[in-house]
Amino acid sequence: MTRILALETSCDETAAAVVADGRVILSSVVASQAAHHAAYGGVFPEVAARMHVEVIQAVIGQALADAHVSLAEVDAVAVTRGPGLPGSLVVGVNAAKGLAYGSGKPLLGINHLEGHVYSPWLLTDREPPDFPVIVLIVSGGHTELLLMRGHNDYQRLGGTLDDAAGEAFDKVARLLNLSYPGGPAIEISARDGDPTRHAFSRAWLDGTWDFSFSGLKTAVLYTVRGQPYGRPLVGAAEAIDPARVPDLAASFQATVVEVLATKAARAAERFNARAILLVGGVSANQSLRAALIAAAPCDVIYPPLSLCTDNAAMIAAAAHWRYVVGQRDALDIDVLPTWPLAG
Ligand code: KG4
Ligand code: ZN
Repeated sequence: MTRILALETSCDETAAAVVADGRVILSSVVASQAAHHAAYGGVFPEVAARMHVEVIQAVIGQALADAHVSLAEVDAVAVTRGPGLPGSLVVGVNAAKGLAYGSGKPLLGINHLEGHVYSPWLLTDREPPDFPVIVLIVSGGHTELLLMRGHNDYQRLGGTLDDAAGEAFDKVARLLNLSYPGGPAIEISARDGDPTRHAFSRAWLDGTWDFSFSGLKTAVLYTVRGQPYGRPLVGAAEAIDPARVPDLAASFQATVVEVLATKAARAAERFNARAILLVGGVSANQSLRAALIAAAPCDVIYPPLSLCTDNAAMIAAAAHWRYVVGQRDALDIDVLPTWPLAG
């Protein structure tokens, strides 16, 4: 049995977890700063880094205590090396180096996106996914469509050319005067809205596996302001009438969901995937899950909410498959804020 202690501090969650054999969560502690960033309508990088420093030791201690293991009993220390906010990543990487150096355990630097990819392996009430799989990573910072043929074996099919899906939710939520983070707020508001009320155009980018969401955000802005799309906006923004919000939220959500679900399902068909893994914070969206299940030619696997949003258990799960093939990183590794997962 391998037991890996993992740390995750790429954005605004300070997290530590101990996972056995890449599948069994012995502990998973997440200290979220979301409430502290809400006032800014997004993550404030300097505040995030400082808050990681304040809580990381306590979070690590709690993860070891909850798992009933000592540092001497774990096989390796893993940490998110990127992509993410540089100042935030540095806190986790330095803490992990200290733990590895002090205990003599190997250090493994892990790609945050690979962590999201491995979150479905933490579902112990079902068999692990069978390859090949299509992976749709949809989070605040990323929208990636991958073909995974085996462990550690990825082919990037496409991704967003501009805003990430979660970023689009967050930005549109701001336009609609909804709270941060925008995804859950839009989903809740959309329940009372008519998704066909506003016919926002879909950016299909035919012939590619890419996505684009920034034009949609602009289209929502023009609709909110009641001005013709494509001309310069005139006059100052006024507070939006709350009665208009549900239809706008529902129409926006339906547009994003249709494009994501259709493209992921087409990729599964094209590459004969055994399953589609839907991961990252936006995978919490119920209407995305439902649309993907309806469109997919195969199984759709999505982790529960606690594993969709950033956590360290998924980093430990990814690290397991790196550990067993011998990855060991030097104690002088640096953070990689823009590290792509695959070419
Ligand atoms: O994976 P995650 O926790 O952090 C990143 O690595 O980015 O994803 C956070 C993102 C935010 O943009 C948030 O608005 C979005 O996930 N999100 C949702 C929902 N819950 C969270 N988007 C749509 N619907 C949701 N229910
Ligand atoms: Zn994430």
